[in-house]
Amino acid sequence: MNAGTEKLEAINEMPSKSNDNPMLWLYGVKKTFGSNNVLQGINLKLPKSKSLVVIGGSGSGKSVMLKCILGLITPDDGSIFVDGEETVGLSIKKRNQLMHKFGMLFQGGALFDSLKIWENVAFGLIQGQQMARADAYYVAIERLRAVGLGKKVADLYPSELSGGMQKRVSLARAIATDPEIIFFDEPTTGLDPIMADVINDLITETVRDMGATALTITHDMGSVRKVADEVAMIYKGQIIWQDDVQNLDNSGNEYVEQFINGSAEGPITDDARKDGLI
Ligand SMILES: Nc1ncnc2c1ncn2[C@@H]1O[C@H](COP(=O)(O)OP(=O)(O)OP(=O)(O)O)[C@@H](O)[C@H]1O
Ligand SMILES: [Mg+2]
Repeated sequence: MNAGTEKLEAINEMPSKSNDNPMLWLYGVKKTFGSNNVLQGINLKLPKSKSLVVIGGSGSGKSVMLKCILGLITPDDGSIFVDGEETVGLSIKKRNQLMHKFGMLFQGGALFDSLKIWENVAFGLIQGQQMARADAYYVAIERLRAVGLGKKVADLYPSELSGGMQKRVSLARAIATDPEIIFFDEPTTGLDPIMADVINDLITETVRDMGATALTITHDMGSVRKVADEVAMIYKGQIIWQDDVQNLDNSGNEYVEQFINGSAEGPITDDARKDGLI
């Protein structure tokens, strides 16, 4: 039995109350849309202050899983523990409190076009925490500096910035409220390789400096190797492998091997043929 299998077995154990709670623990999470069984019992553990990257093919359920964690989609079954607290079925009030622990970098940036850059960064502080605008302004500038931008861009609008700069602003916004857990959805998609690397470095540095816990979804293997402490692969609605990033190239899992090598032939392709998908 390799290290990956052992770890997966540990993850499959029933959650118990302990002082050493993982920051995030998904257990048996299921979600079906019509006849499409997207999540078929997701078991995933994310230790505190670690950076976990989830990889998996297009349509494998990565975004649905993230939306379940954020409470945007309610799972049909299973539990999602955040710092030991069950979050499935929370009241709106409790959910809003929980959201204060979260920071989110959306795919494509998702900045508000009609707000200035500093107002975008300060949005969660002003709207979520009712911070005074003048105070929020100073936090926003500090966060913009942390991502290599500064006062110069504060009064500009998103359309006046390049894609790479917009991503930096999105990152500044994601960290503005000092979140305990930060979610990154495809943070480098659409960026040139150099800017992608800059963003990867920024993610690594900011998460480390803040002592935050991070969950990243990506197809970008460069990103995986740069930002991950641990890697998990989702396939057919389940986490089929999870281990330290150092073990990625010796996973002993042929599905992981095909995915990380981007090979046209392998078990993923064989399954797709059997299922009549190709
Ligand atoms: N709100 C919804 N209603 C119905 N089906 C949905 C909904 N959201 C997602 N799905 C379906 O769930 C499946 C998984 O979608 P998801 O967006 O999670 O994939 P993904 O792994 O994020 O893919 P990608 O890498 O392309 O972003 C897809 O078949 C999708 O059509
Ligand atoms: Mg997605």
